[in-house]
Amino acid sequence: MSTSLPAGRPLVTGRPLGVAAIGYAFMGKAHSNAWRNVASFFEVPAFEQKVLVGRDAVQVAFAAGKYGWSESATDWRSVIERDDIDIVDICAPGWMHAEIAIAALEAGKHVLVEKPLANTVDEAELMASAAASAQARGVQSMVGFNYRRVPALALARELIAEGRLGTVRHVRAAYLQDWLSDVESPMSWRLRKETAGSGALGDIASHAIDQVQFLTGQAVTEVTGRLRTFVPERPGPDGMEKVTVDDAAWVTLGLAGGLSASVEASRVATGQKNSLKIEIYGSLGSLTFDLENLNELGFLDATLPVREQGFRRILVNELEHPYLEAWWPQGHIIGWEHTFTHQIRDFLCAIRDGEAPSPSFDDGLQVQRVLAAVEESAARRSMVTGVPSGCASPSLSI
Ligand SMILES: NC(=O)c1ccc[n+]([C@@H]2O[C@H](COP(=O)([O-])OP(=O)(O)OC[C@H]3O[C@@H](n4cnc5c(N)ncnc54)[C@H](O)[C@@H]3O)[C@@H](O)[C@H]2O)c1
Repeated sequence: MSTSLPAGRPLVTGRPLGVAAIGYAFMGKAHSNAWRNVASFFEVPAFEQKVLVGRDAVQVAFAAGKYGWSESATDWRSVIERDDIDIVDICAPGWMHAEIAIAALEAGKHVLVEKPLANTVDEAELMASAAASAQARGVQSMVGFNYRRVPALALARELIAEGRLGTVRHVRAAYLQDWLSDVESPMSWRLRKETAGSGALGDIASHAIDQVQFLTGQAVTEVTGRLRTFVPERPGPDGMEKVTVDDAAWVTLGLAGGLSASVEASRVATGQKNSLKIEIYGSLGSLTFDLENLNELGFLDATLPVREQGFRRILVNELEHPYLEAWWPQGHIIGWEHTFTHQIRDFLCAIRDGEAPSPSFDDGLQVQRVLAAVEESAARRSMVTGVPSGCASPSLSI
């Protein structure tokens, strides 16, 4: 996208929305790609990729040029105070989410923040409260559980909501990676509790927990948890350093509507690169999803005669499938990066329409409470632990 020309359709009143993104590494790159592409495929309000923020002036300037941002900066505080910035997209690590998001919301900026919402429930509560005050002033906020925007999972949610599975009884989810399998993998912010909040639990089980709630429309009310750190110390800048988060998590969930779920997450599952598998079992049918084949959804319709039953593969690439109308002719598959484009599309449309986007900070707070309950349960030998209610149930709408 040319940064001198606004992308998308101008809002009825006012100038194009000015966007700032904070962080230019993994998620900064994924989000930048989405900002660059969204207006080429979807009808969105006009916006400009104004500023990319990072700590290293030279590197962030290079990234800004490469990813289509007009400028770069190193001080996020001065950026969120700018009158020409309307949207702040937070792609920084978890320990910075609360401070940046609250300051941006108070400055009247719409905020998209990466998942998990925060590192602690206390931070998440402050963020949800700031989001509620901002919402009353027409300022929107959203948390980046991008797997809600996989068309196959959005379709799964629709089929469940339409009753095609009958009564959903249980869900199995496993999110497995292996980038920490090597004991020589170095320390990073992701392995320190004070910077990451938790390990595989907050990093990837959070996605699976959000999916369980999103797909079923039910909030988690109780959990059991077990956490393991298989590699207790790793090479850091000053020698060996203690790892203070989990490498893997095993979780069972009880949900408000009576269904049960299991969630397994690991960053030491040797050979598994980014494997997210979800199975949903109901009285009238079942669904299966595998991120490594993300254009597909497995569906068993148990209302068919038994001799005709079997999982069939739905290629989720038809114009009538969620988000697909904007992309290619049917069968021309899409990828992981498209979920971020869908996320930006939905966020921009919510801003245009003055509607609260989903997942909200309340939804992020709900997941944070589940994560905290899992940690509490794990510390008490997997005791069944309640999840305090008090925030809105996760919305079924996307
Ligand atoms: N949705 C997903 O699938 C997904 C995947 C990976 C990470 N994440 C989430 O995205 C967030 C960022 O993770 P990442 O993998 O991109 O991390 P990363 O380490 O790759 O990048 C972090 C970025 O934050 C920047 N940063 C750190 N301190 C800063 C400061 N003071 N001012 C400005 N910038 C600063 C760094 O320069 C870097 O660009 C985390 O919340 C993580 O959980 C989400």
